Amino acid sequence: MNANVVTADAAAIDRAADALRAGALVAFPTETVYGLGADAANPVAVRAVFEAKGRPSDHPLIVHLADAKHLDVWARDVPDGARALARAFWPGPLTLILPRTALAGDAVTGGQDTVGLRVPAHPVAHALLVAFARRGGHGIAAPSANRYGHVSPTTAAHVADDLGDRVALILDGGPCDVGIESTIVAFAGDRPILMRPGRIGVDALARVLGRVPAAPSGGAPRASGTHASHYAPRTEAFLVDAAILPVEILRLTERDEVVAVLARAPKPAGFDGPWIEAPSDADGYARELYANLRALDAAGADAILIETPPDDPAWLAVSDRLARATHRG
Ligand code: TXA
Ligand code: MG
Repeated sequence: MNANVVTADAAAIDRAADALRAGALVAFPTETVYGLGADAANPVAVRAVFEAKGRPSDHPLIVHLADAKHLDVWARDVPDGARALARAFWPGPLTLILPRTALAGDAVTGGQDTVGLRVPAHPVAHALLVAFARRGGHGIAAPSANRYGHVSPTTAAHVADDLGDRVALILDGGPCDVGIESTIVAFAGDRPILMRPGRIGVDALARVLGRVPAAPSGGAPRASGTHASHYAPRTEAFLVDAAILPVEILRLTERDEVVAVLARAPKPAGFDGPWIEAPSDADGYARELYANLRALDAAGADAILIETPPDDPAWLAVSDRLARATHRG
């Protein structure tokens, strides 16, 4: 593996905090996916993140904080609903989009009047944020540590594959527990809007908010994770219902195409291509999803067939990511 991957012990975390303060980029684990971090208050460092990812510069980044008490350093006019969500779910896999303060410059917000904020629960992310704050830092801006449009990384090796030579340091904290990106909630005034589904589901949000968050409309803030084709493997991927999966495999293999499959069932006798049997529960499926997509992508197949996920609220975030991974156009 790449030489700049280091085990995230106390010494490595101090080194990483120093590097961030000096304006360098550091990749680090969170409970959702690995982030590509930069000093959020340093526009030169933030611009280097866009450069490393190959991401359009008007796409805003999430600012990560050590503690919810730093919320008001970055956000103003915080609605009660947002405070309630922060109390209920931070530290954790939730991002809030809120009106920004002057500290949130155009580089980190993509020039928007709002800023994305999250307090991650992962012990390495937390320790890094604390070490960074001790050095006078205010927050770490971090998108997922993948090349733009590619599948998000859930291990240090994934980061090294995508960005190995573009970051000062990759802190290895093992595989991510949630496996898909944070739930994002924005506010139009007091009205909560679900910008991106995640592990924290609509029911859990609604219990705290006392109302179901709205779906994003045309006027909602822009979020690159909400583009139709995102999180995509490089091999063409297709959603296929379980009932027609055997027929579809036969159709493609008869044309001498190599087919890779992601299903929630064991590999059938007679199929000798790459096949991953994914967990049958939504959280387990999500945890392994991006590693599975990367593995099937690396299998050299002509197509990846993905069994359609259950039509159930618990699978909303997984369905969202699979729809984007299989989107064409
Ligand atoms: O779980 C996560 O959220 C991970 C980890 C590293 O924290 N980060 C992540 O970042 O997924 P990224 O940049 O890949 O996705 C962040 C999403 C993007 O869709 C971005 O456009 C949106 O958050 N976002 C950030 N700030 C925003 C803002 N001010 N207004 C609207 N959307 C915003
Ligand atoms: Mg991303």
